[in-house]
Amino acid sequence: MENTSFEMIETLPVIPLRNIVVFPQMVTHFDVGRDVSIKAIEEAELNDSKIMLVTQKDYKEMEPGVEDIYHTGTVAVIRQMLKLPQGLIRVLVEGKSRAEIKSFDSFDPYISAKVMMINDDQSELTVEEEAAIRLVKEDLETYIGNNSKISPVAMEMLNEIQSSDSLIDMVASYLPLKIEDSQRLLEVTDRYERIIEFHTILQREIELLGIENKINQRVKKQMGKVQKEYYLREQLKAIHKELGEDDEAEESVSYVEKIKKLKLPKEVNAKVLKEAEKLAKTNPSSPEYAVLVSYLDWIIDLPWKYKKGKDIDLNYARQVLDEDHYGLKDVKERILEFLAVRKLTDTPKGPILCLVGPPGVGKTSIARSVARALDKNFVRMSLGGVRDEAEIRGHRRTYVGSMPGQIIGSMKKAGTVDPVFLFDEIDKIGSDYRGDPASGLLEVLDPEQNSTFTDHYLDVPYDLSKVFFITTANDTQTIPGPLLDRMEIIRIEGYTPEEKAQIAIRYLLPKQLEENGIPEGNVSVSDNAIRSIINHYTREAGVRNLEREIQKIIRKAAIQIVGENKKKIRVTEGNIEKYLGPKVYLYEEMKDTDQIGVVNGLAWTQVGGVTLTVEANTIEGSGKIQLTGKLGDVMKESAAAGISYIRSIASEYGIEEDFYSNTDIHVHVPEGAMPKDGPSAGVTIATAVLSSLTKTPVKRDVAMTGEITLTGRVLPIGGLKEKLLAAERMGIKTVLIPKENERELVDIEKNILNKLNIVPIENAKEAFEIALAEKEK
Ligand SMILES: Nc1ncnc2c1ncn2[C@@H]1O[C@H](COP(=O)(O)OP(=O)(O)O)[C@@H](O)[C@H]1O
Ligand SMILES: [Mg+2]
Repeated sequence: MENTSFEMIETLPVIPLRNIVVFPQMVTHFDVGRDVSIKAIEEAELNDSKIMLVTQKDYKEMEPGVEDIYHTGTVAVIRQMLKLPQGLIRVLVEGKSRAEIKSFDSFDPYISAKVMMINDDQSELTVEEEAAIRLVKEDLETYIGNNSKISPVAMEMLNEIQSSDSLIDMVASYLPLKIEDSQRLLEVTDRYERIIEFHTILQREIELLGIENKINQRVKKQMGKVQKEYYLREQLKAIHKELGEDDEAEESVSYVEKIKKLKLPKEVNAKVLKEAEKLAKTNPSSPEYAVLVSYLDWIIDLPWKYKKGKDIDLNYARQVLDEDHYGLKDVKERILEFLAVRKLTDTPKGPILCLVGPPGVGKTSIARSVARALDKNFVRMSLGGVRDEAEIRGHRRTYVGSMPGQIIGSMKKAGTVDPVFLFDEIDKIGSDYRGDPASGLLEVLDPEQNSTFTDHYLDVPYDLSKVFFITTANDTQTIPGPLLDRMEIIRIEGYTPEEKAQIAIRYLLPKQLEENGIPEGNVSVSDNAIRSIINHYTREAGVRNLEREIQKIIRKAAIQIVGENKKKIRVTEGNIEKYLGPKVYLYEEMKDTDQIGVVNGLAWTQVGGVTLTVEANTIEGSGKIQLTGKLGDVMKESAAAGISYIRSIASEYGIEEDFYSNTDIHVHVPEGAMPKDGPSAGVTIATAVLSSLTKTPVKRDVAMTGEITLTGRVLPIGGLKEKLLAAERMGIKTVLIPKENERELVDIEKNILNKLNIVPIENAKEAFEIALAEKEK
């Protein structure tokens, strides 16, 4: 049973080991250099190579004493020795038996001690021990299963081992145990206790292994991502290089350097540099990295540097404005004046230009033309539907996907710090929550504030003071007051049919031919065809629909050229219906006959002048007055004034004096597309009521406009030109206007004046005189 070559107590040389515990059966090597250790080995060599190996409690101790070493260790046999440089000896040993030092004989020249062997218990296992061994085996299976470094075959080998002590010694020598744990396994002599101790240690090791694996997986995943990104970046670099673009794309040009190159204003520079430096410390796979990169890219892409351009050349500007737009003499003149003032003061601190007029009169395209005239870049930001201040100022950079507002976005598009910047349709700004976006705009347009405009996303001041702002609006009424105060209004009225024809012939038609790629001469549209479009297919103050109809013709013609192989296409007044379908508006649209109680009024709306029909009806009743249709409050008041006036003069027109006690009056203004309000329908309403009361028809080719007082005086109105244009479009022959508006007629084109019989009136009775037809007999 017992190994006879090992006596129970022997005197043996001792080597204190550092950081290693040797178990029986374990074959291992260690290097010795200390004199006492070398002497111990020499002594062992003389004495059948047996040596006692113990472990130092503190590996740093150079001359360990009794208290500095564990007293339980392993007796081993030296198998090999190898002399190394610097007096070191590498020793290969094989562990034989656990043993305990009973007493020390000497520490000089080597440690010598009386050692007692701890013999393994060879008796049969008890039931408890058997159970405990099973637990240990389960532990081992789990451990080996979870440890990719150990081959699964190892378990089969371990199963062969019969003795529990052998199993423990064997496994313990391979596990990366702490010195204390290993030492305890050596020291415990009771077999059952030893198995339980081992089980405890194994459980802990399994737990540690699990945690290790988790950490490893995480590290691997991250490594994978980083490597993939690295790989892609390298590829990208290679592609850029192939394309000869590597200068710009070179990753090595760090953001810090790029930022430095921008020569940003001082405060901006400090802040942005800090962000760039933060980037260097951020993990490229984290979301913060992406947020930082897109922020820095915004900064880099924005224009920052001001280069003084050429002085404003007024002659050149005039030439460009004339090239781009037909007519608009006054408008161009005003714009040139505005530019001249700017040139003199050389500061953009003046008011902001605001082009006001109905749709399609060229407001947007004039702004573009101003940019060309000044030789500056052009950007346009449409304010239609901008409801939220964030659209102006952006969102804070706190969440992924946040962006600068449209001001900064447009500046990036502009690419220079001094573009012409159009706020298009400023009157359409946030009709829902007007306050906020308007206040943002106010700051942008205020020369005292806009040199330090702050976008929430950028979070650094941005200088907008070099920008040439222009705005447009259909109507000044809906522009918030404080904004309106900043602006110099230039009105663009609607065009006369002849002006429209000229615009179409000289600008719209050539433009559409070119845009549709039709060679010169292949398609022609006669001037009369264009006049027919103006009169019969469109009804507008501007030329937007005219342009659209021309576009329709050109597209159809293009299809004919391609599909039907035609060489030349002529569009004339005669064949225009082939292209645009039946005429939509006819001259005699007004009415077929003169009617009682129906009068043509003229109103001015956001889209320019329109004709409106006022209908009055009188029925038997109790003197009630009813107003229906789309009437604003102001129009209601003027209706009341008109009716009062009629009552006061009823007898002069042969109406019974007490008519209002047995007659109800009903005035109706059909809705139409645009809401109408204002006092200028007063005379029209009065005329309609009188016509109805006297049963006298109203001439259908007469239209009128004018406010009325309780005494019948006719007061002036606004939008005269627009209203005359509307009347002319409808084919009206005679227009009654307030006397006080007469002097405005000098500004109206000759051919409009020629087509209309314009009669200035001072009193409503003059209107009745002219508008009421012969009473039917
Ligand atoms: N006086 C004009 N001369 C030449 N083209 C014009 C003129 N007025 C308008 N246009 C053209 O009509 C179209 C509509 O003009 P746009 O600028 O969109 O009008 P708005 O902004 O006033 O609604 C554009 O193609 C524009 O170039
Ligand atoms: Mg426009």
